[in-house]
Amino acid sequence: MSVDAPLVLGIETSCDETAVGIVAGRKLLANVVASSVDEHERFGGVVPEIASRAHLEAIWPAIERAVETSKVKLSDLDAIAVTAGPGLVGALLVGVSAANGLALALDKPLYGVNHLASHVAVDLLTHEKEFRPSIALLVSGGHSSILKVDRLSNSFDSLGRTLDDAAGEAFDKIARILGLGFPGGPVIDVEARTGKVTIDFPRGMTAAKDQEDHRFDFSFSGLKTAVSRYLKATPEFVRADVAASFQEAVVDVLTKKALDACKETGIDSLLIGGGVAANSRLREMAMDRALKAGVELRIPPASLCTDNGAMVAALGANLVADGIAPSPLGIAVDSSAPVELVAWK
Ligand code: KG4
Ligand code: ZN
Repeated sequence: MSVDAPLVLGIETSCDETAVGIVAGRKLLANVVASSVDEHERFGGVVPEIASRAHLEAIWPAIERAVETSKVKLSDLDAIAVTAGPGLVGALLVGVSAANGLALALDKPLYGVNHLASHVAVDLLTHEKEFRPSIALLVSGGHSSILKVDRLSNSFDSLGRTLDDAAGEAFDKIARILGLGFPGGPVIDVEARTGKVTIDFPRGMTAAKDQEDHRFDFSFSGLKTAVSRYLKATPEFVRADVAASFQEAVVDVLTKKALDACKETGIDSLLIGGGVAANSRLREMAMDRALKAGVELRIPPASLCTDNGAMVAALGANLVADGIAPSPLGIAVDSSAPVELVAWK
């Protein structure tokens, strides 16, 4: 096996994307994503049962398509990696069972990996420089965290997290109230482009009293309440302005806290990942603030920000290259796995 560029197939089924990626070390060879998002739309959120069933139908075709695209033979793979947590139990089980089956049938090592660590590791696919200690802002539909990452294969520290809703969840809930559909992030992003930031919505966990205990934590429930109250009190509201003002409040807090974490730790490298990292205003504000702070900023292209299998394969390849032992076959899923657990032992 080439330890420099291990050939790894990664499977991701923690939420509503059935995704399979193949990498050769830090080179992306295939990235297949089948989403069941349309089936959840009328419920205004991901329904676990529907997601699991959709994964079952989509997993083998996705694996076949990834293999076809990459022109890699399954027998040439160096390892199989799979998201084993955190995420929806039933959804995770489909990916882990498929990965177990492949590893057993092909006699290849299996790596059960952390979904959040994968969102950070995808950075490896977007440039050639050596990874260096970084602060990672991870913002998705299920998580909002600020992490200190010294080494991708084993050193993640959580500096802060959301105390209530995840950032993406806040986008999804506000989009529903505004009648914009699901998922909320992309539609609010588009709607906000035609609006102005006219309303000063609250920035959660930024008061002086929060600086001590919750410096790097987030809270979006107060913002959600403020938007609902504003809409009730203002029948003539301009939807695009509400979307722009809400988005500004979220993005302001996310970027400020992430750069504060860089300053406090003396780390001058910031990564932003997860579905919300696709947000155009977040990307713009982060770029602006990072430049002013002298911090190197990296945000993957939008297709690698939302859930995908390439990020799982990238982390798997990094584990192989770093000589980390594979996980035992038959690993269990852990729906609430802590971010410190990068690979299942
Ligand atoms: O990482 P991801 O694909 O799945 C999870 O791990 O949760 O993130 C999905 C979340 C959804 O809440 C979605 O509304 C949000 O990412 N999202 C966005 C944008 N695109 C996706 N949020 C804000 N702006 C966007 N452009
Ligand atoms: Zn995710």
